[in-house]
Amino acid sequence: MKLTLLSIFAILARCAAASQTLTGQWTCVDSGAYELCQNLWGEDNGTGSQNATLYSASGDSISWSTTYTWSGGQYDVKSYSSVNQLSANGMLLSDITSAPTSWDWEYQEISSDLVADVSYDIWVGTTPDDPGSNTTTFEIMIWVSTEGGAGPLGSQVASDISVGGYTWNLYEGPNTYWETISFVTTEGNLNNFSSDLKDFFDYLVANYGLSSEQYLQAVESGTEPFTGSATLYTSNFHVVVNI
Ligand SMILES: *[C@@H]1O[C@H](CO)[C@@H](O)[C@H](O)[C@H]1NC(C)=O
Ligand SMILES: *[C@@H]1O[C@H](CO)[C@@H](O)[C@H](O)[C@H]1NC(C)=O
Ligand SMILES: *[C@@H]1O[C@H](CO)[C@@H](O)[C@H](O)[C@H]1NC(C)=O
Ligand SMILES: *[C@@H]1O[C@H](CO)[C@@H](O)[C@H](O)[C@H]1NC(C)=O
Repeated sequence: MKLTLLSIFAILARCAAASQTLTGQWTCVDSGAYELCQNLWGEDNGTGSQNATLYSASGDSISWSTTYTWSGGQYDVKSYSSVNQLSANGMLLSDITSAPTSWDWEYQEISSDLVADVSYDIWVGTTPDDPGSNTTTFEIMIWVSTEGGAGPLGSQVASDISVGGYTWNLYEGPNTYWETISFVTTEGNLNNFSSDLKDFFDYLVANYGLSSEQYLQAVESGTEPFTGSATLYTSNFHVVVNI
């Protein structure tokens, strides 16, 4: 086959337009700076199904969606379909000068009984990798949405704090090997979230015993459904960790 410049453009255009859908309990696809994972870790606690679709990725931006329907196990999270910024992993907190992020998202469909959060899940530990292991010290969640009374692990330790340009209630509690700290929006859905994750790290170093001599093990963003059905669409997500 002879590739003319025109046919190369045609192929590139087709690649840009292609979307890829993930099904199954644990599948991932690398795309640009990110890995998109369909992670149905809690599916056995209920009944339902979920998909995740990658639309496009370019530089440090990605567009994706997830569609799900879950019932049963009303207090159990079923999944965390999410994107993971691969270049953030292993960074030492004290080296980070800024970590700008923006997230434009919306619910395109939502059932009236939906219980779910939309959240960052950021893992910190004593080694550069292995998020969610016995080397993990903190799981930092930032909930930019909470629907249907979804609440984080632990108990509330602060209210109406200002961090990263928004106002939050803060929750803390022990998890498997680590402490989970969750910032939960007090301003309703933050559909066009734009902030600097370094502000959150600095706040936890100053007030909650996070050591800046530890490593980012993963910076993820996605959604945790408990029950109900929805399509969560991210038109544009972006995070960069600068040192
Ligand atoms: C929920 O699922 C997890 C992981 O499969 C399991 O460890 C846990 O026991 C389940 N909880 C309930 C209430 O079934
Ligand atoms: C996910 O995709 C599978 C296979 O196409 C489909 O059977 C299932 O209904 C989808 N689930 C949802 C929640 O869209
Ligand atoms: C806010 O997010 C919505 C949903 O993704 C998008 O359509 C809209 O353009 C965004 N607005 C701004 C000001 O970025
Ligand atoms: C952590 O887990 C690893 C792998 O399972 C194990 O080899 C190690 O002994 C554990 N370390 C501690 C301190 O529990």
